[in-house]
Amino acid sequence: MTIDIENTSSYDSKLFHSIMIGNMELQHRIVHAPATRLRCHEDGMRSAVPGTLLITESIFSGLKSGGFSNIPCLYNEQHVEAWKPIVKGIHDKKCFVFMQFWNLPGELKPDYLEDQERLENVTQGECPMDPTGLPAALGSAYSICGESLYIDKYMSKLDINEHIAEYREAAKRAVFGCDADGIEVHQVNGFLLDKFVLNGFGEKCDPNYRGSLENRVRFCLELIQSVVEAIGQERVGYRISPYSDIWRSKDHVEAHTYLVQRLRENFPKLAYLHVIEPRKYWTGHEQILQEKNSLEYQKLWKQPLLSAGGHDRDSALQLTTQDNVLVVFGRYFLANPDLPFRLKHNLPLNKWNRSKFYAKKRPEGYIDYPFCDEFIRETAKAENIKQENES
Ligand SMILES: Cc1cc2nc3c(=O)[nH]c(=O)nc-3n(C[C@H](O)[C@H](O)[C@H](O)COP(=O)(O)O)c2cc1C
Repeated sequence: MTIDIENTSSYDSKLFHSIMIGNMELQHRIVHAPATRLRCHEDGMRSAVPGTLLITESIFSGLKSGGFSNIPCLYNEQHVEAWKPIVKGIHDKKCFVFMQFWNLPGELKPDYLEDQERLENVTQGECPMDPTGLPAALGSAYSICGESLYIDKYMSKLDINEHIAEYREAAKRAVFGCDADGIEVHQVNGFLLDKFVLNGFGEKCDPNYRGSLENRVRFCLELIQSVVEAIGQERVGYRISPYSDIWRSKDHVEAHTYLVQRLRENFPKLAYLHVIEPRKYWTGHEQILQEKNSLEYQKLWKQPLLSAGGHDRDSALQLTTQDNVLVVFGRYFLANPDLPFRLKHNLPLNKWNRSKFYAKKRPEGYIDYPFCDEFIRETAKAENIKQENES
């Protein structure tokens, strides 16, 4: 069936209006979610529609931040060289990319640190399914496929400073080495930064970083301060999961409210705040319709806000009736390389194949989801016009 795309669009919706984020002029408000895919080589996206912002999967900024096979890194020149063509490919398509960095809340056991082959073997197995949307293998931040890889250790001031230094250096490599448009700080789902905010270390961290809200957000604020000094506020986005069911503290709402207030005061020009919406993780991701959602943080933040989690076309159209709000798609984007085009023209979407989310190093389920006929036709038409104009 051929669909008349001229008559099926919702051009008037702000979802398809351009918007400035940091230094980037995006052509619409549909963003590619960070999504770990385990396709990296041992030593080692979707930019079909111009003006799209893509956020990369989580990257390790240094040896301290963690280690799993087939997860990308950015702490040496080889990594920079490997990322450069990826960033260039995205820019060539007139899209933008922010690189997300994360830190695991423990330390890789020395026997794995020293024996990468052993690490590779542990992670060689198929990742089991995980309803949280995170790689099941990483579901417990300390173990993979049942084998414990990490030690839970006391976080001293020195450890905190080393993490910050790794993050800052990786941010510089991302922007000045790889030419990425910016970086995203990952304070999500109980991983390192989140664990501090949620007081998850108890007594097992430097006293200045536990207890009061002021202390618990100190690490995050120091980290952002260090990163923005290196690359500028406009190049930094910040991701939080204030409604996460995975690791909750009694006062997680107050903690995030306090944090967002401090972000607003200290870093009002950050590119964006990225909030994961409340969802029923254990019953398959559907969004929980309740009054509490990212817009309560938007009241405090007031700058561009990215909302992620369980969105479809209708919720995206609805949410972008608000000013300064962008909608992040994870699973739909990984299954639809031309997602912004399809949403704009209300075309049917490919369904994702969960069993291929983490198919290590394999192209299946990564680069083989089909473009729709309408996109192929329109792209060819635009290319012909361009060539005629140039000839
Ligand atoms: C395969 C997969 C990998 C993911 N990896 C990451 C990740 O590396 N970093 C992160 O912050 N979120 C990650 N997420 C969560 C997504 O960014 C997003 O929040 C989630 O998929 C919900 O959005 P959706 O309902 O549109 O899929 C991942 C999700 C999926 C499905």
